[in-house]
Amino acid sequence: MKLSPSLLSADFGILRAEARQVEPLAEYFHIDVMDGHFVPNLTIGPPVVNSLRQGLTKPFDIHLMIDYPIQYAPQFEVTQHDMITFHIEAKDEPFRAIDEIRELGCKVGISLRPITPITAVFPYLDLVDLVLVMSVEPGFGGQAFMPAAVERIEKLKNEIGDRNVIISVDGGINVKNVHDVVAAGADLIVAGSAIFKHPDRIAVMRALITAAQ
Ligand code: DX5
Ligand code: ZN
Repeated sequence: MKLSPSLLSADFGILRAEARQVEPLAEYFHIDVMDGHFVPNLTIGPPVVNSLRQGLTKPFDIHLMIDYPIQYAPQFEVTQHDMITFHIEAKDEPFRAIDEIRELGCKVGISLRPITPITAVFPYLDLVDLVLVMSVEPGFGGQAFMPAAVERIEKLKNEIGDRNVIISVDGGINVKNVHDVVAAGADLIVAGSAIFKHPDRIAVMRALITAAQ
């Protein structure tokens, strides 16, 4: 399993320094972009994300919680190593959103809210690099993990079969529940408050990796 620390729970005033702390054990930096419409919260957008890049080496895992991913995805400066994930419940048609994000040269992820049936993403599995299973209602860090995510991940893993699609999970992950989601099939673990609200970020990342085994 790999870790994608969510910078949402970091100190935004010193974002790059916060990112640097977790970089040694991070596969990606998970960056939550919210528009105040798709979710009732606002975070950061392309100018901040693009200028954060300088001095960091790990790729970005950009989680768009916005109504119009097709309009805003091109404003993120990305390479083939980065991921842009949009929500199936957004207002853009998913097949079109996948194509438009793919055009940018990065990897493409699709995400879904806890209330959306997991089968909703099945038609897109041949076209995406990652499915991001939300284990909280998107919008805020620090919420409690919804255990129903475990069975959803199992179903998804089964449907993915031998396709090369990463399963990621996002929301309320900590040392107590990380084992269950990894055993169910999750490959890329997003964790925000568990990492950044802890004084020793590297120690908690190591603990997550150990607990996952
Ligand atoms: C919530 C975001 C998550 C959030 C996770 O809408 O998508 O990435 O930062 O934070 P924790 O790990 O604290 O639930
Ligand atoms: Zn997220």
